[in-house]
Amino acid sequence: MRRYLRTILLVLLCTVIAIECIKLEEKYCWQQLEYAWPSESVKEQAIQSGKYKVEDNLPLGLDVWKDKLFITVPRWKSGVASSLNYVTISDEKTPILHPYPSWEANTLPDGVQSQSEATAGGRAAAPKAVQSNVGALSNSSIISTFRIRVDECDRLWVMDTGLADILGNPMQIMPPALVIFDLRTNELIRRYPLPDDHVKEDTFFANVIVDVGKKDDCDNAYAYVPDLGAYGLVVYSFKENKSWRVKHNFFHFDPLSGDYNIGGVNFQWTDGIFGLALGRAETDGSRKVYFHALSSTKEFEVPNRVLQNESYSTGSDAYFDYKLVGDRGSNGQSSAEFFDDEAGVLFYTQVNKDGVGCWNAKKPYNPDTQGLVDSDSDALVFPNDLKVDANRNLWVLSDRMPAFLYKSLNYTEFNYRILKGKVDDLILGTPCV
Ligand SMILES: *[C@@H]1O[C@H](CO)[C@@H](O)[C@H](O)[C@H]1NC(C)=O
Ligand SMILES: *[C@@H]1O[C@H](CO)[C@@H](O)[C@H](O)[C@H]1NC(C)=O
Ligand SMILES: *[C@@H]1O[C@H](CO)[C@@H](O)[C@H](O)[C@H]1NC(C)=O
Ligand SMILES: *[C@@H]1O[C@H](CO)[C@@H](O)[C@H](O)[C@H]1NC(C)=O
Repeated sequence: MRRYLRTILLVLLCTVIAIECIKLEEKYCWQQLEYAWPSESVKEQAIQSGKYKVEDNLPLGLDVWKDKLFITVPRWKSGVASSLNYVTISDEKTPILHPYPSWEANTLPDGVQSQSEATAGGRAAAPKAVQSNVGALSNSSIISTFRIRVDECDRLWVMDTGLADILGNPMQIMPPALVIFDLRTNELIRRYPLPDDHVKEDTFFANVIVDVGKKDDCDNAYAYVPDLGAYGLVVYSFKENKSWRVKHNFFHFDPLSGDYNIGGVNFQWTDGIFGLALGRAETDGSRKVYFHALSSTKEFEVPNRVLQNESYSTGSDAYFDYKLVGDRGSNGQSSAEFFDDEAGVLFYTQVNKDGVGCWNAKKPYNPDTQGLVDSDSDALVFPNDLKVDANRNLWVLSDRMPAFLYKSLNYTEFNYRILKGKVDDLILGTPCV
């Protein structure tokens, strides 16, 4: 009953007053990230040796499983303490990050940081293979991850790029791999290194989407890993433990949509296919896969059955199975997206608008049918990742990444935030209901 009254009140607020509809609520914020170190002396040692530089630690991806909120910290720079972490949902406003599944799994072998101190080259520097101390690495090791995905079968899928110190002296410590954990036991299920021929010049694997067929058919799962730098899509079959690389013209960026102005920083990106979302599940388990390039304002779709068929998806006959859904209009560039099955609404970040957008899949796709769920020139500067959890809360992580990459952050301000809202409340008063 209370819930019912609340909804009525919200509808009234949104329709009668027509201002400030329900907004995302700020759940967590940080000036800088702190970690739960095994001891104060380990932390001191890490600071002394340069393995931990607090300002190098930028949160980027998130996902939620029961009371765990996972947060990734990619190794853009050399002083990242741990790349895969979690906090507990009940934690206070500025929680401390706990490495997952362990500190050990998130610790680079010795010698990596000291080598990277030697030069401060740009992105062009060739990755070096690190031979020393490989013994410290295991199949559970997480070198550097951008995004992760919790699936319906209580598994955590991690796209580990294996690449450390990306902006400094990049080092390919392990091959890029899908690393899958059992969330109930925190045990490794499988590590699948991507075959060498999946990795091209400029390859950049920064996302992973998991498509579990019919409920409870957990073996029959596929992962889709977009390659935003070399414009491809890797499809991995869990059952067959095998992957293939798919190409399509729609995976490329739009040359007219590569200019960004975010938080006072102007820059140009050529990022291709990046955000993917699974549409509504049909009874036979088939779904649409929505996707878009980051430097683009267009949305596309392809049936998951096409991607899942290796011979067909890698041949030329599949070209016309890919369709244009529509265009969001100018400044509509988006990183992550997520489809809420129940409302039939696609949520996506709006990086050039400091906001979060939505679209109801029953409607045509054009600028007029896009909703802006929330926007804020402080709290939502560079919304980087978003997910809808099992209780249909929308979670959004914003992190001012352009300032981190190209200028510097002001560490007396709140730079990193995680915001949250209920899907049904957020879409009230938007074109997405
Ligand atoms: C990783 O797993 C593979 C089998 O999947 C095994 O052959 C290999 O020895 C494992 N490596 C380590 C370091 O445990
Ligand atoms: C999956 O394939 C990889 C690489 O081809 C191999 O190293 C690994 O042992 C396989 N794992 C399983 C569970 O079959
Ligand atoms: C893959 O697609 C081809 C062509 O449509 C079809 O003949 C084949 O049966 C499909 N394979 C599977 C496993 O569905
Ligand atoms: C950093 O932020 C604080 C608080 O907003 C502000 O007072 C200060 O001037 C800023 N410093 C710089 C260097 O911009």
